Amino acid sequence: MDRASTAKNDRACPVLPGPRGTAIHRGSSTSRLGSPSRRSEQSQEITTLVAGARAFYALPEVQELAGPERWLEVEAEIEQDGSYAHTEAELLLGAKLAWRNHARCNGRYSWRSLSLIDARDAQTPAEIAERCVEHLVISTNAGKLRPVITVFRPRVPGRSGVRILNPQLIRYAGYDEAGRVIGDPLHVDLTRQAVKAGWNPGHGQFDVLPMMISVDGRPPEIFDVPPEAILEVPISHPRYDWFADLGLRWHANPAISDLCLEIGGLEYTAAPFSGWYVSSEIGARNLSDTARYNQLPKIAERLGLDTRRNASLWKDRALLELNEAVIHSYAQAGVYIVDHHTAAEQFVAHVDREHRSGRLVPSDWAWVNPPMSASTTGTFHREFDPPTFDARPNFVRAPQ
Ligand code: ARG
Repeated sequence: MDRASTAKNDRACPVLPGPRGTAIHRGSSTSRLGSPSRRSEQSQEITTLVAGARAFYALPEVQELAGPERWLEVEAEIEQDGSYAHTEAELLLGAKLAWRNHARCNGRYSWRSLSLIDARDAQTPAEIAERCVEHLVISTNAGKLRPVITVFRPRVPGRSGVRILNPQLIRYAGYDEAGRVIGDPLHVDLTRQAVKAGWNPGHGQFDVLPMMISVDGRPPEIFDVPPEAILEVPISHPRYDWFADLGLRWHANPAISDLCLEIGGLEYTAAPFSGWYVSSEIGARNLSDTARYNQLPKIAERLGLDTRRNASLWKDRALLELNEAVIHSYAQAGVYIVDHHTAAEQFVAHVDREHRSGRLVPSDWAWVNPPMSASTTGTFHREFDPPTFDARPNFVRAPQ
């Protein structure tokens, strides 16, 4: 699935060497060099880039892949061009290390299995959208989900680069209709933005939003996600026939698309990645949070529970049935999903394995624990290495 990289040649190169080895913008004349403060900003950017790159090529995994000489090549490339390009192998390794470093992910057990789609050659929003669709088809793999990251070109300093405004490639619209929300309340603002950009809204509970893609701060262009790229699972229950009548569904693929992948000082502002769902993300958050689909009162009522008393534990019983329904439905549909107990066991195994290799596993306790029955899992009963959000490579909030 990996594509040969042409990015090194195609890359929009920000700066060219100036007459005495000073860097100036491509096409700029001396009079357009910019103010002294802009020049010092640029040299600050180069210094940061060099520091990031130096630290990356000093990592043992990267040394093993690229050899000790590679850093000299990169340093020379930065000196000459003001930037540099990762090889495809470095990009894949960098993305794997970013996953391994991400303190909020409890799926890191599988970090070695990540595949790369190198999409650094995509230029226009339409080309980028096409590669996002390809990402969904390849990673969804007809239900046998596999971890994939698609990496678009890194941003040029001073520009915002490629941005996918959607937090995930597949997300459901939310419509605020006189205070009552149809759809996913989390995405009311995003839905408004899509409509403003020309999207024709539906009025359903589960309308897939279009992808909104902006390059270098230009207004976003919108692209529908074609049906062949959207695998969804209707939710039913193994024992309660009425459950299917609730009309609930969820998508198979959680493809995060608004985080910036930082490797060796380069910022890949668009790098959608996906693995598979933990069932409790859907059953104990998306469909049950009061600020999301808020289905527990309805389910409790159908179960005949006493919803007037907290102490009847109606929320807990409804939550359990909903989560069983999610696991059952994904299994029936042949869509891979992991339950929160297995996910926690894998995470604990990952932490132990990493510690045996002499590495820390910075982790955010609240994030790696499941949102239901946490105390029945191993992740609840231990402390983790403190999260270090400045570890690099990593996935970070995209710079403004
Ligand atoms: N919690 C998010 C959601 O419910 C997905 C976050 C990423 N999860 C994952 N399993 N890769 O959509």
